[in-house]
Amino acid sequence: MKLNDPYGRKFKTLRVSLLNTCNLNCFYCTMGSEEDINFDHRPQKPAAFFSQIISRLHENLDLETIRLTGGEPLLYRELPELIRNLKAIGISKISMTSNGYLLGRQAVALQQAGLKSINISLDAMDEVSFYKMAKRKHLDRILSGIDAALDCGIEVKLNAVIMKGMNQDQILPLVHYAFGKNIPIRFLEVMSMGHLHQDADRYLFSQQQLLDTIARKYQFKRLPRAASATSNYWQTTEGNTFGIIANNSEPFCSDCSRLRLDAEGNMYGCLSSNHPIKLNPADNDFTLKEKLQLAMSQKQLHHFVGSELSMLQIGG
Ligand code: 5AD
Repeated sequence: MKLNDPYGRKFKTLRVSLLNTCNLNCFYCTMGSEEDINFDHRPQKPAAFFSQIISRLHENLDLETIRLTGGEPLLYRELPELIRNLKAIGISKISMTSNGYLLGRQAVALQQAGLKSINISLDAMDEVSFYKMAKRKHLDRILSGIDAALDCGIEVKLNAVIMKGMNQDQILPLVHYAFGKNIPIRFLEVMSMGHLHQDADRYLFSQQQLLDTIARKYQFKRLPRAASATSNYWQTTEGNTFGIIANNSEPFCSDCSRLRLDAEGNMYGCLSSNHPIKLNPADNDFTLKEKLQLAMSQKQLHHFVGSELSMLQIGG
C-alpha cells in the first residue's frame, strides 16, 4: 500500500500492547507506587482478536516485524498461541519487549512457538537499586529469565532507562554485565510520558552524560546510524557495542517506521499521540486505508512531544 507521507515514511514494524497489566511498578510508569495499580480488570482480548487485526494490517502494509509488548506481555495467557498465529500469517520476525520477571518458566514454550528475540528492560544490577526503580524484590528472577532465553536460543537485548538521582550508578554495572554475557545493551533517556509528562527534565540523564559515565571505564567510537533505528551505537576498543536511545537529545522521528496497536484494538501512528484510532472488524479496505493514513499523519518530524499516557497504556 502506498501511504502518503511527504517524508517517505512507511509502517514496517507493528508494536502490539497485549494488555495494560504489569507486574512491576517502575518509577517512570507508576511514580514508584507500592500498590498494585497496574492491574487492568478488563478481560484480556483473545489471541484471535489480535491475529485478525494484525492479519488485515499485514495485507495492507507488508509488515516486517511484530513486537509484542504491554503492560507485561508474559502476563498474556495465550502468548504462545498468538505467536504461532502470527507465524502462520507470514510475519517473518516476531519479537517481544518484556521485563523478564516471568521469563524463566516460559522461555522454551515461546521459542518453540516461534519467538526470535526479546528486549528485556533491566534498569539495575543490584537488589537495592532494582527495588528503588521497580518496587519489587527478586532481580534474580530476571537474571535467570535472561539465562533461560539465551539457553534456548532466543536473541536477547537489554534496555536500561537511566534516571538522574535514581539509578545512574547502575550504568557501569549494567555495561559490565552485558559485555560479560555478550548481550547488546541500550540505554534510554527518560521520556516525558504518563506522570512524567511535565516533569521528565528533572530526571533526564542525557546521552552525553551517559557517554561521559561509560568513558570512565571504556574507550569507544560512534558507529553510523542505520535507517529507522531508534538507537545510536558505539563500539569499544575491545569490540563490544552499546547503544543509546536518545529520545530527548537526538529525537529520531523523521524516519520512524513504527505503528502501534493497543490492547483494545486502537492504532496510534506515534508514541506521542493521545488520539486512538479505533479499528473495527467491519472496516472495509477503503476505511482501513483511511485510518492508516490518519495514523501516518500523527507522526512527528523532529520533536518527541511526549504523552499523558504511560508506556503501560500505549505499549513500549
Ligand atoms: N521513558 C523511557 N523509557 C521508558 N520505558 C517505559 N516508560 C519509559 C519512559 N517514560 C521503557 C521500558 C521498555 C521500553 C520499551 O521503554 O523500560 O524497556
